[in-house]
Order: sequence, then C-alpha cells, then structure tokens
Amino acid sequence: MRGFGRSIPGVLLALAICVPAFADSQDEPPPPSPSGAFGEDEADLAARLVINSLGLAPDDPSNAHDDDPRAAALGERLFNDPRLSRNGAVSCASCHDAAREFQDGLPLGQGIGVANRRTMPLEGVAWNTWFFWDGRKDSLWSQALAPLENPVEHGADRTALVQVMAADYARDYVAVFGPFPDWGDLPRHAGPLGDATAIAQWQAMPEADQRAVNEVFANIGKAIAAYERGLVPKGSRLDRYLRVEFGGIEGAKGALTADEEHGLEIFAGKGRCISCHQGPRLTDGFFHNTGVPSVAGLPADAGRLAALDQIEADPFNCLGPFSDAPAEACGELRFLLRDPKALARAFKTPSLRGVGRRAPYMHAGQFATLDEVVRHYDAAPAAEAGQTELKPIRLDEQEIKALVAFLEVL
Ligand code: HEC
Ligand code: HEC
Repeated sequence: MRGFGRSIPGVLLALAICVPAFADSQDEPPPPSPSGAFGEDEADLAARLVINSLGLAPDDPSNAHDDDPRAAALGERLFNDPRLSRNGAVSCASCHDAAREFQDGLPLGQGIGVANRRTMPLEGVAWNTWFFWDGRKDSLWSQALAPLENPVEHGADRTALVQVMAADYARDYVAVFGPFPDWGDLPRHAGPLGDATAIAQWQAMPEADQRAVNEVFANIGKAIAAYERGLVPKGSRLDRYLRVEFGGIEGAKGALTADEEHGLEIFAGKGRCISCHQGPRLTDGFFHNTGVPSVAGLPADAGRLAALDQIEADPFNCLGPFSDAPAEACGELRFLLRDPKALARAFKTPSLRGVGRRAPYMHAGQFATLDEVVRHYDAAPAAEAGQTELKPIRLDEQEIKALVAFLEVL
C-alpha cells in the first residue's frame, strides 16, 4: 500500500499558497494561519471529502416551505408532469432522469428544442449557493421557474401554468400555500417571457392579476425545490476508504486499488484538483475559467460574467417580492462578487460525485470521456476569452490512468 499520508504535505502546500510564510524555526510553533489550513491534521482533511460530513441540506430562508413534506410530495408530482409544458410532452424528468442521477447523458439538453448547455445532475443540488452552469439563479425555487418558460425546454406560459395548478392541483396546493389569490379572467397563454403575443397579453393584464399569477408561479418553484432538497448524493468506495484510513473505523483496507489510491494522491497533490473540487461533494461551488473550448455553432458563452446583471434584475431573487427571506439573509446577492477578469468564461465547479457514470463532460458536453478531461487539465490550454486558472501538470501515462481510475470510483 502506498499510504495516502505521504501526499498530505502536498495538500497542505496546495492549501497554503495564500498563507504568508513564517520563520523556519524548529522551536517556535508556527503562528495560527488565517485560512486555518495549517492547523489541520490528516483526519480533518480527509473528513472534508468524506460523504458523512455533508450533513443535512442547508435551509433556504427564501423558501418558507422547503422542509414541508407536503410541499415535497406536490413538487415531485410537478417535477414529473408533462402538462407543465407547451406541447404536453416535456417534464423536468424528461431531461433530469432519476435513473441517471437526474441528468440525460447528452452533450446538450433536449426539450421542445435543444439547449445551449448540458443538463446538470441534481443529486446534492440543495447544497449549492448558485444554480446553473453560470449561477444566474440564487435559489433552487427560482431556478425551477426558468425551464418552465424557456422556449427550448418546457416552453410554457405563466398564465397557462397557474391554470394547470388551479385545475389539477388545487387541493394539494391550498394545503401547503393557502387559498389561491384572486384573479380575473386570465388569457390562456400570457407571460413576460413568452412569444410576442404572450408578452402583449401579459402587458394588457391588470397589475393585480400579474402579481397573483407571479405568486402562484413562484410557489410552483417552491414546491419543486422542496422535492429536490431530498435528492442527496450517495456514498462510494472512496468514503469507505477514507473512514478506514482516517476515521478510526475498522474495515477492509483495500477499498481502493493501488491505482485508484495513486489517483487520489495526484488529485489532492500534484494535480491540484482539490483546490476547486473540495469537500464532500468535491466542489467549491464557485466559478472558474478552466480554458474549456467553446462548441462550434453555439452562441458565444461568457459564463458567470454574463450572469451577474441577470441575477440582480431577477424579480424572483432573494431580495424580490416573492422571497420569504429578510434582506439580511441575502448576503450572497447583496455582496455579489464582480470581477470581470476572473469571471469571463468562468463556469461553476461541478460536484464530482458519480462523475464516472455520466459522460459527456463540461458545460456543453465538450469531452466524451474522463481520459479527455484529464488530458485537458494536463495540457491546460489557453482560454478563448478571459484567462484560464490552470497550469500544465505534466502527468505521465501511468498517472493519467491512475487519476481516471480515481474519478471512476466517485
Ligand atoms: C430540456 C431539458 C431540461 C428540462 C426540461 C429541465 N432542465 Fe434543468 N437543466 C437543463 C440544463 C441544460 C441545465 C443547465 C442550463 C444552464 O446552465 O444554462 C439545467 C440545470 C438545472 C439545475 C441547476 C443545477 C445546478 O447544480 O446548478 C436545476 C436545479 C434544474 N435544472 C432543475 C430543473 C427543474 C426543476 C426542471 C423542471 C421545472 C428542469 N430542470 C427542466 C436541462 C433541462
Ligand atoms: C480552477 C478550478 C479547478 C481545478 C483546479 C480543477 N477543476 Fe475540474 N472543473 C472545474 C470547473 C469550473 C469545471 C466545469 C468547467 C466547464 O464546464 O466549462 C470542472 C469540471 C470538471 C469535470 C467534469 C465534470 C462534469 O460533470 O462535467 C471533471 C471530471 C473534473 N473537473 C475533474 C478535475 C480534475 C481531475 C482536476 C485536477 C487535474 C480538476 N478537475 C481541477 C474547476 C476546476
């Protein structure tokens, strides 16, 4: 056995980069580190990857119903209901297939039309701060509203959606959210994001009706989010290995093969993967430019940079009238990080849990295999726009194979 312990100093070095250097004296203990990275022993570092440290899904203060089981039960039905689409054939589950970790295995999502990005898996989604590859939504419930009105996904109109709720889900809806607000005669197809006719009809509606429709529309998202909160990632052999290696738990030492164990060492050491893919979901939840090439034929995609204004303008954000959160609970939105140099073509670090089972990879399915992914990191090509954060790693063939083997375990 190689012993993972030998790579821990590498991890510390990787984490220590931003920590000021201290005097190299044997007698004096190092001063406490501002990042906390130095004070940690091996078990603590390992505990950050092990699935058990995930805990319960965090509360979303902007959704007062996110832990109501009745809301979750309603949300599950809505998630699987194709009536919430223009052609009666598309549901969330069409693209987010429970049998495939709630994604579809395609380079680009396919609903009524074809999306410009890859469908994201949903297990563990409630632990995110930002949603979509560019994080243009700041809550799970607000995210759920976007595909419903997206012309290439569900393609539905806002008034059509709330009329489905009133006709087919009235009892369950009222049990969770209380009575429907009053509205007058609603046009069948009206909404601010629909086609020209739908927009015109929406604009002709009294403001009170618009507000009532928006409230029910937001609640559709809140029910779906309550359901998605229950989708948690499963453990893997890595967790068994970490518990035995560092958790003081007795068990089979051989939970990883020698190759896989070597891969973990590269992941945490030389490869620096852990600087972005960290913690029990193997993601820092933030946005990075990693020089992933664009796809010919798709519109230019600026990633996170283009999302910033959309988040602030979104009426369904944490500070908006349909949020249940007090303004002070919306810190991420109020202090939105804006750094054009770092955020151009930056995309969200995906969780790597289950990654071996859901090719293709990256925001538009650019790479077909994990071998291609690892070779991309190894070469670290220049970014098409903005600046890549990667540097070439210089792995040999055996190391590439080991790193791929480790990713397959997750
Ligand atoms: C046509 C396929 C399709 C349909 C239908 C669809 N999605 Fe998605 N989903 C996607 C794609 C593609 C993305 C990434 C889009 C982007 O980043 O712009 C995504 C992203 C997401 C995310 C973000 C996950 C994360 O980690 O940030 C969530 C949550 C989600 N979808 C939930 C839903 C829900 C709920 C519905 C139904 C109301 C739904 N989706 C309908 C394709 C689809
Ligand atoms: C600077 C941060 C950063 C580092 C370092 C990093 N990654 Fe990533 N990783 C990302 C981001 C961001 C994406 C998504 C990029 C995109 O879609 O354009 C990603 C995507 C991936 C994916 C695809 C997952 C999916 O579902 O599409 C894999 C696999 C992966 N990384 C593995 C690694 C490995 C292995 C290493 C180390 C060699 C590594 N990453 C280092 C940020 C990073």
